[in-house]
Amino acid sequence: MNVLLLGSGGREHALGWKMSASPLLTKLYASPGNPGFGRVAELVKLDISDHSAVAAFCQEKKIDLVVVGPEAPLVAGIADDLRAWGIRVFGPSKAAARLEGSKGFTKDLCAKFNIPTAAYGRFSDLVSAKAYVEKTGAPIVIKADGLAAGKGVTIAMTLEEALAALEACFDGAFGAAGAEVVVEEYLTGEEASFFCLCDGATALPFGTAQDHKRVGDGDTGPNTGGMGAYSPAPVMTPEMTERSMREIIEPTMRGMANLGSPFAGILFAGLMITDQGPKLIEYNTRFGDPECQVLMMRLKDDLLVLLNAAVDGQLAHMSARWSDKAALTVVMAARGYPGTPEKGSVIRGLEEAASEGAEIFHAGTAINGGALVANGGRVLNVTATGATVGEAQKKAYAAVDRIDWPQGFCRRDIGWRAVEREKAGA
Ligand code: AMP
Ligand code: GLY
Repeated sequence: MNVLLLGSGGREHALGWKMSASPLLTKLYASPGNPGFGRVAELVKLDISDHSAVAAFCQEKKIDLVVVGPEAPLVAGIADDLRAWGIRVFGPSKAAARLEGSKGFTKDLCAKFNIPTAAYGRFSDLVSAKAYVEKTGAPIVIKADGLAAGKGVTIAMTLEEALAALEACFDGAFGAAGAEVVVEEYLTGEEASFFCLCDGATALPFGTAQDHKRVGDGDTGPNTGGMGAYSPAPVMTPEMTERSMREIIEPTMRGMANLGSPFAGILFAGLMITDQGPKLIEYNTRFGDPECQVLMMRLKDDLLVLLNAAVDGQLAHMSARWSDKAALTVVMAARGYPGTPEKGSVIRGLEEAASEGAEIFHAGTAINGGALVANGGRVLNVTATGATVGEAQKKAYAAVDRIDWPQGFCRRDIGWRAVEREKAGA
């Protein structure tokens, strides 16, 4: 098969790395990709927002499958447009991608189909949103409805913070994404990322992970896209997974079909495991980044076979097998992230790092004058496996320490929760 992979981050590098192990693969193209793809893919320059240009490329190169990494093209309807040209696409339709593209849509779906989630209100004007917040009190959570690059959520511990967040949203801090606001109950518990591969009717559990959203050690500092992850998430026991499927994922699949927009692609449920059980925080309609990197390290089966089954509505006949090992990834970011990252600093020592037994996925790199340089906020994902999270952590940091990049930084405590649990259990 010829495959076109869209996206440029560590998530896409991990997907390309895993697909390149498939005997089904003839040729992999990636757009825009990144230098880490190296020998596994040919990088092509396409304007991903120009769906007919992408379709024309697919026809010219006889592409058998397009795999869409990030959410923005999905929400913009790339899957629908390519399918209209007869091209097979892994990724949800525009209507199904509303699960990520509109938080209000998802909350209403939860209300309609009895899916456990935080209590909420949807508002399109400041006055009624303020009245709701004043009545409910803090702590409370304010969310811009649309895609805001992970920045549209405020966890307000005081009423003042909540009111300021509402004002910022309606003042246009998130552009059109904030024209509508979801206000919701503050949930407490442990968070987990739960993935399901979906074909419109069937959802196949596809791994669990735990992300580290804050930039600093000890979960301090501003939120980021994710500074590291490990898989599996210990809190997702078989019982919790079964409950999440029955109470959250399966009603979502039925609900979406019922609304005429069946979900096919990867459904990424952000869950809060509360005293009352799993509650949905949010959906994403794509793999997580960096969660995908740890999932791909543990997936034993052929990813292309599974993605094809999802596209062809054949998941009811499939299973996915996972390594018993734990996988852990440390994100190395450029100084300045999550604000404006410094670009262009030279990175050395990747071969030495890989010799520690780690897989190094590139997230934001470029080649400049023959040297590998930083070209984004999150730059490298240093990923390793081990019998325990603790062992994977040791291996990943041993590799991190071999990387010669003074302008980069990372958290030193990725996996701490699981490692503490392992120590307590030992
Ligand atoms: P989201 O972009 O919706 O994933 O939100 C970003 C982060 O905010 C989540 O990963 C949670 O840590 C936190 N969060 C979102 N909604 C809630 C909620 N209702 N209660 C507590 N924390 C939340
Ligand atoms: N790491 C969180 C996300 O991909 O949304």
